[in-house]
Amino acid sequence: MKPGYSLMKHYLQFKDLRAEEYAYLFERTAIIKKRFKNYEKYTPLADRTLAMIFEKASTRTRVSFEAGMYQMGGSVVHLTTGDSQLGRAEPIEDSARVISRMVDLVMIRTYEQAKLEAFAANSRVPVINGLTNEFHPCQILADIFTYIEHRGSIAGKTVAWVGDGNNMANTWLQAAEILGFKVHISTPSGYEVDPALAGVRDQSCFKSFKDPMDACRDAHLVTTDVWTSMGFEAENEQRRAAFADWCVDAEMMAAAQPDALFMHCLPAHRGEEVAAEVIDGPQSVVWDEAENRMHVQKALMEYLLLGRIG
Ligand code: CP
Ligand code: NVA
Repeated sequence: MKPGYSLMKHYLQFKDLRAEEYAYLFERTAIIKKRFKNYEKYTPLADRTLAMIFEKASTRTRVSFEAGMYQMGGSVVHLTTGDSQLGRAEPIEDSARVISRMVDLVMIRTYEQAKLEAFAANSRVPVINGLTNEFHPCQILADIFTYIEHRGSIAGKTVAWVGDGNNMANTWLQAAEILGFKVHISTPSGYEVDPALAGVRDQSCFKSFKDPMDACRDAHLVTTDVWTSMGFEAENEQRRAAFADWCVDAEMMAAAQPDALFMHCLPAHRGEEVAAEVIDGPQSVVWDEAENRMHVQKALMEYLLLGRIG
């Protein structure tokens, strides 16, 4: 085992880190982003290798992890279900034992959270959740950093979630509990968040609303996501009918605070979960949000591999 791994941490859910660790990560992200913008070379992960395992499609997660790792001096191995033995039923535990003997860090995008956890339980190196059916912690890390960049601390603020009670919604709830803000959530009936599955103990960190307009009222941030997440495509038609009134439009944004931000993890479907005038309008920060995936993940990889700097 390499030095430093005695304190090995995984990042499988947002609640795997404490508030003070997030404060540190957001500070490091700002430093790392500034260096990148100034074309300053910063290669603390020279000779380190990240394995990225994708069982679902990706644009942002792949590019942000891969570019980020190269920028920090490391290298990347990219695996998918179709081109590895994962697609031919090699047990996830065996895959973890083998892959983690050859690399320093693993990022996985898969279906069930239990599969990610089985990998982590058999890994010699830190494992990062690149999205599961249940959670998407790297995305919320980027979203909160983006909020802080534009508006300052998110503590005490209200985030409106309009749409599916999915992996993003679950992760927002975990973040609210840890970082001290509230989520006002509106989902169609049958698509609610399950607080037990989301893993939140403090039910006061969120409030549910039948009408999405009520969830948006006075919110500091309005956010949404696709009606049909990856892996749920068979439900597409049924979901299109159920979610028809859960489109973030100008009227919902007008109900929020006058300086409210709009976020979407992307990819987006204009005219479904969000109106074009909102995602392409002045309150939208979706491109900063996407770029910040790379900066926060560089800080996260540095932290998992090297601990606190300085
Ligand atoms: N937001 C996000 O995770 O995007 P990708 O699916 O493109 O990675
Ligand atoms: N909830 C979406 C997020 C995509 C980044 C999905 O899981 O497909």
